[in-house]
Amino acid sequence: MDYSSSKMNLSPKSNEKEEYSSDPKVFEEYKPLISSLPRRKGWVLNQFYHYQGFWHNLFYLEGLLSAQEHFKPQPNDIFLSSVPKSGTTWLKALSFAIVTRSSFDASKNPLLTTTPHECVHSLEGDLAHNLFHRNLDTPLIGTHVPYTSLPKPVIDYGCKIIYICREPKDAFVSLWHFCCKASPKGVELSAREDLDFEEAFKLFCEGISVFGPYWDHVLGYWRASLEFPDRILFLKYENLKNEPVFYVKEMAKFMGYPFSLEEETKGMIENIVDLCSFENLSKLEVNKSGWLHGRPYLIEKNAFFRKGVIGDWKNYLKPMMVARLDEITERKFRSSGLTFNVSSDA
Ligand code: A3P
Repeated sequence: MDYSSSKMNLSPKSNEKEEYSSDPKVFEEYKPLISSLPRRKGWVLNQFYHYQGFWHNLFYLEGLLSAQEHFKPQPNDIFLSSVPKSGTTWLKALSFAIVTRSSFDASKNPLLTTTPHECVHSLEGDLAHNLFHRNLDTPLIGTHVPYTSLPKPVIDYGCKIIYICREPKDAFVSLWHFCCKASPKGVELSAREDLDFEEAFKLFCEGISVFGPYWDHVLGYWRASLEFPDRILFLKYENLKNEPVFYVKEMAKFMGYPFSLEEETKGMIENIVDLCSFENLSKLEVNKSGWLHGRPYLIEKNAFFRKGVIGDWKNYLKPMMVARLDEITERKFRSSGLTFNVSSDA
């Protein structure tokens, strides 16, 4: 299996209507291991499997196992990591715009015609499943893999990682909305089982969500970022939202693509922030219609752009749910030094 030999190719290998199915030859070897794992009913896809302390659906688990066995990064690769619904799409867009800024003038940026998820492919999804070629024109690779499960060479080669996390109540509400728009392939959205909000909440609190427990995922990267600050940049969605120019500058410096004084004077940072803003990306035709390739479920591109605000949980969570999630967050993050300021209004 080769994850890195191909040239830049932003188009999928399969056509849009083709459905995902695991290559039985490639993933056959993982069957005994997978069938021995604890499993639970998941969200959207039928089963979640418990592997190395986290819950995975079959598609991403197969991809993770394959990546752990075969993936070899380039030493200058930069991983963009997150729990789903924490701002992955935004992080991919900003990072892509930063590293490619001298290759395209503003009117030709691929982000205007290609979704952020197709500009930056995911390790355990697109690449491990060989659905897309590795884009060697950028060092960027997306991943939702927990820190302790990353393929060993990613750590051994000292690859840089930018992690984005989000206040858990907003992350849950965003995840629930997203899952309501996703459907297992072959099942019409209208025919799928309804995803009950209360049931989803219960599972999330128990840690049973894709790549969950949510809190453990965040803590893994948080602790690693304290230990290796030169290698891991830990970002919060809320901070990026409130001070995008400051954090985009930090990201560029961290990635080894610092803005020159001339670029800053010309407003390059602000231009990137504007290009990648929710308001701009969500209105682009490429992000508004059509289906995203390479997923284990059917999902429309616009599902990645819902509201993009801080504090939308206030519109969905009952006081008891707020108390429960806050209690878990306080307990899990206690003495870690990690806190969320959630004072902003939706
Ligand atoms: P909401 O559902 O709260 O609106 P991910 O990219 O990890 O799947 O996260 C999706 C969340 O990020 C969604 O949150 C989505 O609206 C928001 N989002 C997507 N693009 C964004 C952008 N450019 N700026 C801010 N938020 C964005």
